Order: sequence, then C-alpha cells, then structure tokens
Amino acid sequence: MNVAIYPGSFDPVTNGHLDIIERSSRLFDRLIVAVLRNPSKKPLFTVEERIEMIKKSVSHIKNVEVDYFSGLLVDFARLKKACIIVKGLRAVSDFEYELQMALMNKKLDEEIETVFIMTNAKYSYLSSSIVKEVASLGGCVKELVPPLVAEKLREKFNK
Ligand code: PNS
Repeated sequence: MNVAIYPGSFDPVTNGHLDIIERSSRLFDRLIVAVLRNPSKKPLFTVEERIEMIKKSVSHIKNVEVDYFSGLLVDFARLKKACIIVKGLRAVSDFEYELQMALMNKKLDEEIETVFIMTNAKYSYLSSSIVKEVASLGGCVKELVPPLVAEKLREKFNK
C-alpha cells in the first residue's frame, strides 16, 4: 500500500492545495494531509480550524485523511508508515527551497521520497499569504478558496 503525506501550513487551504490533493489522491492508495503545528509561527487560523476546513473540503475523496504534526516531518511520515512526501511546485522560485527541504528530508531518512506535482496553471500565482492579504483588505477571494474558507476569512476580517 502506497501511503503519501502532503504537508503544509494550510493557513488557510486554497484551491491550489485542493487541486494537488485531488490529483495526488489518484496516484496513491492513501493520502494524509498533514497540517503543521508550529508554535513559533503566528497563524491566522488555529490547527483545529485549518483541519476542519480541509476535512470539509475533501470529504468527497475517499482515500484522503487529515491530521496534524509537529516536529520533524520524516518522524511523522515514519509514524504513519508513509514513504512518500508530496509537494506542489508553482514557479521556479519555489524550487530552491523545495529542493533544500527534499534533500534534507532524504538525509534524515533515505527511505522517504519527495514527489513534486506541478501546479495547475490557473493556480500558479496562488498562496495562502496572498489570499489572506486580499481578504484582509476586503477583496474577493471567491474563486481562490472553497466557499467555506471564504466565509471563515470574512468572519476573521469582519468584511
Ligand atoms: O505550507 P508550508 O509552510 O510551505 O509548509 C512547510 C512544511 C510544513 C512542509 C515544512 O515547514 C516542514 O516540513 N516542517 C517540518 C519540520 C521539518 O521536518 N524540518 C526539516 C526538514 S526541511
């Protein structure tokens, strides 16, 4: 059984993330979306809120589950018996950092492979940060995130 992990901050999940989740769920038997709990970062949404938004957005995909982790990603992967890490690549600018992370993860555990999935062109400019900025300034994010996330962003920013 091929178990893959798709890790990230998902603060919040965007349509770009969902596209990667849908496409990778067809490639692996089981896909675990892993939300990073990082006390040193100040996220807009709590881990619980982020997990709930992802769970509701992927409920139609049978082999996808949502969990959280803290500490090293490779330790979480081992715990879940996953030997694949899935990452989305948007632009050349993502490459350097992603390469560094993939090589470090390989150094930490050579049994675990990182697999890159190219973004859907229509989401190549999308990131959680840019969505939050637009939403905080009252811009429309309807086509960028699932409706329930757009609603949560409106609540957070009182827009
Ligand atoms: O959505 P993000 O913030 O780009 O996701 C980054 C993430 C969670 C994939 C990355 O920060 C991560 O894997 N953190 C866990 C800590 C870790 O394992 N570090 C060493 C290998 S780079």
